[in-house]
Amino acid sequence: MTLQEASEIIDYFHTSTPEHLEVLGVDPSRLPPSAQWQRRYEELFDQPVEQRSHFLVSWFEDNQFVGFSTADKITIGERANMHLHVKEASRRRRGIGVECVRQSAELYFQTLKLKQLFCEPNAFNVAPNRTLQKAGFKYLKTHMTVPGPLNFHQAVNRWVMDRS
Ligand SMILES: CC(C)(COP(=O)(O)OP(=O)(O)OC[C@H]1O[C@@H](n2cnc3c(N)ncnc32)[C@H](O)[C@@H]1OP(=O)(O)O)[C@@H](O)C(=O)NCCC(=O)NCCS
Repeated sequence: MTLQEASEIIDYFHTSTPEHLEVLGVDPSRLPPSAQWQRRYEELFDQPVEQRSHFLVSWFEDNQFVGFSTADKITIGERANMHLHVKEASRRRRGIGVECVRQSAELYFQTLKLKQLFCEPNAFNVAPNRTLQKAGFKYLKTHMTVPGPLNFHQAVNRWVMDRS
């Protein structure tokens, strides 16, 4: 992902309906203001990839930006957590998610030299849970947690792709 494309992420969250954020398990009051979020990405992109706290991947179909994945909780050579989003609802359920999750996972394993890649979607959000299984992730467990800084306390399913 380029710095310019990173603004798509900010736009996605800030233009999502409260209902969609609820499905994602995101607390709207925890979204950073757009300008502050953009500055954080500028600082991120100033760092070498191996020192970044987040690794961002754009998804394209016919040269058009259609979605993104991000990785965080990164320990190079060991593990990371990934996220998955097709931006427009009209493009979902057409196979983009499975294909792009597979390709993003390969990119994370190679670039971050991972042994394990995790994903923890909200347990009641069917789309990512189905997508992860189809893309080759294995189900580990369901538990209550606050999965990230934008999230509220919720039930999540922990999925893993393990190459250790
Ligand atoms: C999750 C997401 C990236 C998946 O991408 P996608 O392009 O919609 O997924 P695909 O078309 O590749 O579908 C993969 C599988 O999930 C199933 N699926 C997708 N959305 C579904 C839904 N809303 N309800 C039930 N099944 C669904 C598909 O039917 C398919 O399974 P099948 O082939 O066995 O029928 C996309 O739906 C999305 O962006 N959702 C909103 C954001 C989100 O919830 N992100 C996860 C945050 S952790």
